[in-house]
Amino acid sequence: MATFQTLPGFREFYPDALARRNHIFRVWRHAAQSFGFQEYDAPVLEPLELYKTKSGDEIEQQLFSFTDKGGREVALRPEMTPTVCRLVGEKANTLKRPIKWFSIAEFYRYERMQKGRGRCFFQFNADIFGEPGPEAETELIAMLVQCLAAFGLTEQDFYVRLSDRNLWFYYLEALGLDEARIRAVLSAVDKYEKIGDDAFKPYGEQFGPLDDALKAKVLAFLQIKSLAALEQTLAGVGGDKLTARLADWRKLLGNLQAMGLSRFIEVDLGVVRGLAYYTGFVFEAFDRKGELRALAGGGRYDNLVGKLGYGELPAVGFAIGDMTFALLLEQRGLMPAFVQSPDVYSVIGGEKERLAAFADIHALRAAGYRVEYPLKDLAFGKQFKAAAESGAKVALIYGGDELAKGVVKLRDLRQRAEHEVPRDQVLTAVRDLLSAPA
Ligand code: HAM
Repeated sequence: MATFQTLPGFREFYPDALARRNHIFRVWRHAAQSFGFQEYDAPVLEPLELYKTKSGDEIEQQLFSFTDKGGREVALRPEMTPTVCRLVGEKANTLKRPIKWFSIAEFYRYERMQKGRGRCFFQFNADIFGEPGPEAETELIAMLVQCLAAFGLTEQDFYVRLSDRNLWFYYLEALGLDEARIRAVLSAVDKYEKIGDDAFKPYGEQFGPLDDALKAKVLAFLQIKSLAALEQTLAGVGGDKLTARLADWRKLLGNLQAMGLSRFIEVDLGVVRGLAYYTGFVFEAFDRKGELRALAGGGRYDNLVGKLGYGELPAVGFAIGDMTFALLLEQRGLMPAFVQSPDVYSVIGGEKERLAAFADIHALRAAGYRVEYPLKDLAFGKQFKAAAESGAKVALIYGGDELAKGVVKLRDLRQRAEHEVPRDQVLTAVRDLLSAPA
């Protein structure tokens, strides 16, 4: 008989996989809270319009979209950014500033499947609204680093590439390009690392081939890897906008240095990000060995809240994906093995003893202990074997003789010692034993 398979690119989480996912989410949530971010959530199904033109061509082509029974054009969310802009835009005047929000949620993109890329995946999103200056980027990049470093990853495992779409804009403007041409060049820069010269083809088709001298300048600019090189290149160009922008760069890098994070940060003008809405600083996190696709990406998007029909509100944020990140943790041996062991295993003589045991089992669970027992009658030997295999620290033994005396046996499975405990003192005895060092 044919069985039902999951759809391509969709994932199931068996308990061990879910334990790993929960571990990652727990650490991310803790990092966000330590930076003072508040958690929010939002619908998984959204009006298709929210993503059209706002997110960019690539995401638009990857949408899971359909018409619902009410005739509405809808899409499963491919990302959180337009949604969080709506949430904040709706209540911008009443929200306490600075607005620092995070979420952990599932997203859907009909992508070509490859290592670390699926059609449904989780992202940790963090965004700051209402802060136009590089202080917001400082906070977010520091938190991105913390979200990865909190698992034991170091600067030898990952780094953050930092770039700036503003700087690119101002530079290309100074070189004489208009806005449409600048956008086409940036789209080529975005793809240049992956496909080389072919990245300039769409520009050529739209505007004719890029002038050789200009192209050489673009290629030199995208290879810039330090603030000093950036300053040197721009010294010959000048202009107030570029000068002010370099001051923002100095501020951001100075702040990150003061936090002790310089070792994680690399200036890299080759990053411009594919999403349509980014306006200023952009950044992406990668594994140092360069074996995996991006771990995280983000940047400033000062126009998106306004484009959605609300008052203008500067914004910056990032998202970490769970798939590449879990691969990296596993590669580095930093994914803990999750064994869910009970504190107490109850070994029960028979039906009569079972009823006596139930009273204690429930009282222990209500007091917060993890307690297991065999759901049906088993020989003592099998129960002791099950107790040992469960990893329980303590066994409570309910035999007929013990119960007749008004006691149960408490066996320390770590020390292999046992003693009798009066029935009305089971909770205290378990508490004493479990709080004592093993
Ligand atoms: P993004 O670069 O499209 O940015 O995605 C961020 C991260 O999500 C990627 O670096 C990757 O780890 C993960 N990711 C994306 N697509 C997939 C996929 N198909 N399978 C597995 N993982 C994936 C954004 O989504 C922006 N909205 C981030 C942002 C938040 N910008 C500002 N605030």
